[in-house]
Amino acid sequence: MRIYRAADYRELSRKAANIISAQVIIKPDCVLGLATGSSPIGTYDQLVEWHKKGDLDFAEVRSVNLDEYRGLGIASEQSYVYFMHQHLFDRVNMKPEHINIPNGLNPDAAAECARYDRVIEALGGIDLQLLGIGRNGHIGFNEPGSAFEKFTHCIDLSASTIEANQRFFKSIDEVPRQAYTMGICSIMHARKVLLIASGEDKAEALYKSFCGPVTPNVPASVLQLHQDVVVVADNAALSRIDAAGLI
Ligand code: GLP
Repeated sequence: MRIYRAADYRELSRKAANIISAQVIIKPDCVLGLATGSSPIGTYDQLVEWHKKGDLDFAEVRSVNLDEYRGLGIASEQSYVYFMHQHLFDRVNMKPEHINIPNGLNPDAAAECARYDRVIEALGGIDLQLLGIGRNGHIGFNEPGSAFEKFTHCIDLSASTIEANQRFFKSIDEVPRQAYTMGICSIMHARKVLLIASGEDKAEALYKSFCGPVTPNVPASVLQLHQDVVVVADNAALSRIDAAGLI
């Protein structure tokens, strides 16, 4: 695992976008695993800027998103499919048929999860998986306690995640209680993982994930076992690790 330090969110976003653009340039038809949340917004903005300058071509890129709220679709501004179109897909030349996101509107959870696993398999797996990290160490929507061996599945969101994500909704009651998410096993099968973290409220999660034991109680800690993980974090997110004198 390599940890790249950034002074702030802007520098973090540029570094992360550089790693993703290198992947796209090296393999124009690569499979990108994409993430939502506030962390990747700056990264997507930077990729869009380079695309508009003519430096980055997404015509053959394929994407698979990590997760989606159960019950939400593109008509909902809080859905992850809406987020992805707003922040990336509608601003670059991705082909609609190359975009894959769990369908939150499929009421048949087992069928939707099986379909999504088949999509990832048919694409030949994920070349580069972008991840944010939850304050409780979750990745995708794999909450503490999630079994490491799972592929795509339907999960009950933890109280802390519902609370953290309520800022995107009018009230906490509107936050869906369930989501479809790639599992830890899906994420661990990605050939490369890029995790980004910004801000002091991620400092404890980063510390526990990369300096503590590998445990389902801290889902991101499993990444210690992945052979190619890059963490890009700003000083604030690294503050707990710095305080322990570990890097
Ligand atoms: C959500 C997403 C995660 C994301 C996390 C952190 O719960 N499912 O993929 O990493 O929140 O979000 P943020 O980047 O907004 O802190």
